[in-house]
Amino acid sequence: MSGRLVLLPGDGIGPEVVKSACCVLEHINSLGRGYTTEEDLVGGAAYEAHGVPLHADTLARAKQADAVLLGAVGGPQWESLPFDKRPERGLLALRKELDLFANLRPAIVFDALAGASTLKPEVVKGLDILIVRELTGGIYFGEPRGVDKDAQGRIGRNTLVYHEDEIRRVVRLAFDMARLRNKRVCSVDKANVLECTELWRDVTNEVHKDYQDVALTHMYVDNAAMQLVRAPAQFDVMVTTNMFGDILSDEASMLTGSLGMLPSASLGASAEDVGKSRPGLYEPVHGSAPDIAGMDKANPLATILSLALLLRYSFHDEGAARAIEQSVERCLAEGYRCADIDEGTGACLGTQAMGEKVAGYLETFWT
Ligand code: NAD
Ligand code: IPM
Ligand code: MN
Repeated sequence: MSGRLVLLPGDGIGPEVVKSACCVLEHINSLGRGYTTEEDLVGGAAYEAHGVPLHADTLARAKQADAVLLGAVGGPQWESLPFDKRPERGLLALRKELDLFANLRPAIVFDALAGASTLKPEVVKGLDILIVRELTGGIYFGEPRGVDKDAQGRIGRNTLVYHEDEIRRVVRLAFDMARLRNKRVCSVDKANVLECTELWRDVTNEVHKDYQDVALTHMYVDNAAMQLVRAPAQFDVMVTTNMFGDILSDEASMLTGSLGMLPSASLGASAEDVGKSRPGLYEPVHGSAPDIAGMDKANPLATILSLALLLRYSFHDEGAARAIEQSVERCLAEGYRCADIDEGTGACLGTQAMGEKVAGYLETFWT
């Protein structure tokens, strides 16, 4: 098993969590794999070096890679830049240019962390939800957009727009994923108010005709936000628009104990075909956490678990992916914690020490 990874650490805690994940990858290589890495800039770091948040050469390099592992982008120092220069635009351009239309955000509660959630342990124990977020369309990319003026004053605009094909391909992928799990899909929309999401609902019902073995329900997004904290175990796969998925996945992260636990995989093809036409992009759900950047305090597990998804989806290296996930589980069961999930039950580790701890268990689970 071998392949070429491009690492885009980005800003804030991004470089720290990616470095920690690299420690895990190095151990995987020492166990007989041959994954190579090259590093490049994205976000604020790219802006400082090149004046743009995603340089054309970086994009070309990402397109040629087998997979991309990204840390996080953004920070207060770049917030007053024009929108097209902001770090976040670099990430959005990368997703769009690689046509990564489906963002998988699994929210899994490790047994050892059931007490770390702000919700009651009996509500979150054993939880395993997959949020499938549409990633290259919707209000994030719709035109017209921007702020202009009329006689009365300034007007701000963003546009929620979906073509039926964009809905169909991501919903199809969600049904495919559900078939590998508990065969339940909940599609989240605001069809009572937004015409665009009524189309989302109609197309989802059409796609469902090919997936009669999967149970489909629909839920309005306001109710879904409430149900996620009231009774999250009712969900198996949730599929939704770009912005609703962004918000619901941060909410779901708190079921798992912390935003620092949630990995993601952005795919541009069905799970079997990932990597054949374009690379997948793997990144933690959290941001650059400027409040703790540079302090070795960030939890690297979301990035380490993203590396596991990378090995699973882009390289079909289930052995290494499972070894990482089981090592993370073992670390948590042994009581090791980062500050964000610390309940005072064991040793509280820094970002790098947690990566080394996970790496140290890999051999135990190597098959
Ligand atoms: P954030 O996710 O960076 O941080 C929210 C809170 O969670 C903070 O208190 C932070 O300390 C904590 N946190 C996040 N990740 C953590 C980790 N791994 N371990 C421990 N604690 C963690 O969100 P924000 O503060 O709203 O945004 C900060 C910047 O990050 C902004 O510029 C935003 O645009 C950017 N952002 C980037 C991404 C991305 O690159 N994918 C995602 C979200 C936000
Ligand atoms: C995420 C982030 C990004 C998003 C930002 C940084 C562009 O919040 O990946 O969840 O909104 O998609
Ligand atoms: Mn987000």
